[in-house]
Amino acid sequence: MAVFAVWSCFFAAFLTRCLAVQTSHNVYPVVGVLFVHELNKDYFQEEFLRSQTFYGISYNDGITFSTNLQSFPDRPGWLRYTQRTPFQNGYLYGTPTQADVGRQVIEVNAFNRKTYETVRQKLIFSIQESVGLMLPYQVEFFIKNKDVEEVLLEEVQQDFQVGAESMWNTQRLSVVNITSALDRGGRVPLPIEGRKEGVYIKMGSDVPFSPCLRQFLDPKIQQRCSEQLPLTLHCEDRFSPQYQIIWCNLTLIDNSQPVHPTAGTVPGDGILQDAGEYNPPSESLESRDYYTDYMITTLIPVVLALILLLILIYIMCCRREGLEKREAKTTDIQLFHHHSIQDNTNELRTMANVRDVPRPLSTLPMFNVRTGERMSPLQHQFNYDTSHVPLITAQH
Ligand SMILES: *[C@@H]1O[C@H](CO)[C@@H](O)[C@H](O)[C@H]1NC(C)=O
Ligand SMILES: *[C@@H]1O[C@H](CO)[C@@H](O)[C@H](O)[C@H]1NC(C)=O
Repeated sequence: MAVFAVWSCFFAAFLTRCLAVQTSHNVYPVVGVLFVHELNKDYFQEEFLRSQTFYGISYNDGITFSTNLQSFPDRPGWLRYTQRTPFQNGYLYGTPTQADVGRQVIEVNAFNRKTYETVRQKLIFSIQESVGLMLPYQVEFFIKNKDVEEVLLEEVQQDFQVGAESMWNTQRLSVVNITSALDRGGRVPLPIEGRKEGVYIKMGSDVPFSPCLRQFLDPKIQQRCSEQLPLTLHCEDRFSPQYQIIWCNLTLIDNSQPVHPTAGTVPGDGILQDAGEYNPPSESLESRDYYTDYMITTLIPVVLALILLLILIYIMCCRREGLEKREAKTTDIQLFHHHSIQDNTNELRTMANVRDVPRPLSTLPMFNVRTGERMSPLQHQFNYDTSHVPLITAQH
């Protein structure tokens, strides 16, 4: 019965895993507006077989993700991916353009760095056109003390938007784009507490810029910025103090005026001027003789190979005798050594026989150094039954 329970448990785990492989999520990005999808680490942790909480244990393994457009090696150009460490959530984010409208399937593969398991998930993107949403006025803020992952969180974006709304005097704002400063040639900060890469946030609206924003178009402010002098602004701290905004890097983009072709350029009729008949160069038709080239490139290696072969044959056939001779000589030397060792041993043996001195007492068996008493090994055995002598004397 217990065996059955365990097996059904494993089967259930296997089944949920299979289902997990097939899970798909629908998401609906809108053209021109920032889209963020969080790859929740805890969700994927639960999908891994190991972390089925059989015994009420929950795991926290490192998980990394790889993402690609279905049947392509990489993501579509508008979609970017970031994950700071394998112990944090991953994010897919980006702003689709008009060309991306339609259905895109993104495959997400989650890798467990501890158990090497993988789980696949499909994200079905239905990219929609922005109906009636025009964002011709755009402002890009540079926040120095944030990483891109931090501002991808929805609550942080909303919090930031409150500050932007108060500067712009409107609530009709959307986040258009978020870019890490590293993507614009920024440097990776030193690993010192509080240093961040920095991030650009672009907000868009159909409401024209407020006077507060328009002051940044003032040449005086730009002059002070280029001279790196402190700015005197009259509406700078509308943001919560956790955002350190570099005001000199604020960019205003005004797309409200349709772009006219500059006057001065005269469109042509689209037909090139007649320049006569085209004569292809005749030289290429001439046939070229490659015989000598062929002979040189093949003959030289063949001759070299033959010479090497002859040298090898000579070494193998004619030099062999010499080798044999050398071997014979080595055997002679070895025999000579052997004989001399034998002679020396015999000599030592005869010398030892001639010597007639008693052996030192200490080399005799059962000699007591202190008493000088000698005992036969047998006698000793009867006096002391060593098996009853304790190895360690009992301590009282
Ligand atoms: C968003 O920012 C990225 C990186 O700077 C850029 O490649 C992309 O074109 C931007 N998208 C839009 C819609 O502005
Ligand atoms: C900020 O703007 C200045 C001047 O336009 C530029 O030199 C600098 O690289 C910008 N800094 C960042 C981090 O974008």
